[in-house]
Amino acid sequence: MLKEIEEQPDVLARTAFERLRDEEGDVEFEDGFAFGDDELSSFRRLRFMAMGTSFHSALLGKLMLEELAALPGDTLNASEFLYSPRLPEQDALTVVISQSGETADSLRAMREVQARGGQVLGLCNVRGSTLDREADHVILTHCGPEVGVASTKAFFGQVVALYLLAVRVGRARRVLDAAAGRRLLDDLRHLRPKLDALFGAEEQAATGRAADLLEPAAGCLFLGRSLNYPIALEGALKLKEISYIHAEGYAAGEMKHGPIALISPEFPVVAIATPGRTYEKMLSNIEEVRARGGRVIAVGVRGDQRLGELADAVLPVPEVPELLSPLVNVIPLQQLSYEVALRLGREIDQPRNLAKSVTVE
Ligand code: M6R
Repeated sequence: MLKEIEEQPDVLARTAFERLRDEEGDVEFEDGFAFGDDELSSFRRLRFMAMGTSFHSALLGKLMLEELAALPGDTLNASEFLYSPRLPEQDALTVVISQSGETADSLRAMREVQARGGQVLGLCNVRGSTLDREADHVILTHCGPEVGVASTKAFFGQVVALYLLAVRVGRARRVLDAAAGRRLLDDLRHLRPKLDALFGAEEQAATGRAADLLEPAAGCLFLGRSLNYPIALEGALKLKEISYIHAEGYAAGEMKHGPIALISPEFPVVAIATPGRTYEKMLSNIEEVRARGGRVIAVGVRGDQRLGELADAVLPVPEVPELLSPLVNVIPLQQLSYEVALRLGREIDQPRNLAKSVTVE
């Protein structure tokens, strides 16, 4: 798992860079993605379906598509689709996301969409997998084989690919002009060196201080808003999968509606508070936690003094455009889970009761 966490800067380069058409401010996928601009513009909605960590990518895919392509999206846990009413599918494109391309719930949902007359775009990491073969269109992530049961680099690759998809659909629908497309692609290229900065000695020391707070915890809460709400969910899933500490991810606005009752010095909060539209509200959440005796681990940009004064530990990240912040913010949370699980002597690469690929419904 540690190796796979550290490979993520390369995953960015492998999944994205050859597909960028810098001059046109656009993205070109391979032959498996055979949509022309007209067809992409004809869809009235996009649906994202997946399971587990890939479901968290799906949540981000929806937000990115809505933001860059102005196309309404929705997200559904793939195992729930079977029970949904049979509405017309002709105006919709369904994106099914799966690292392995073999997850039974996701394949079942794909086949059900197709049986209802809809088209499926598969997003997967394994060439030749069932999703790759059976989806109507495919985008492959180029993460390399993921062996650790807890998904890390595959999630990262999925989010990169979804960003590319959002740019492509935004350009096709003329929501983005070439200049806007170029800016978005530049942002992605500039991310590479910033990611490298997440693996230094200062970051490792910060992970250790945060792990001191989590290791003895009975449970904890992960909070984020907007684009970093899926990252809160993913941070919580990673921690519970490999450390067996109970963790729940919440949209931070929900905190006052129930979870706040859990907060105590033994029940810390991990809060994602990087710059952008949610920053001030996240700081208020952190103040509320502190006022109730809770301990706070914050993900924040390096040198953020306000956050430094409020939080018990800060996991420092470089400042990046808000739309790319999930890619940066997820990494210290993976590192934190890894460190806590290591200290607790867990079987990190093969956590109990879990299989890498869940091939039964
Ligand atoms: O291969 P898939 O992406 O379809 O797998 C989906 C989930 O089973 C998977 O993400 C699972 O949640 C991981 N253990 C998460 O770390």
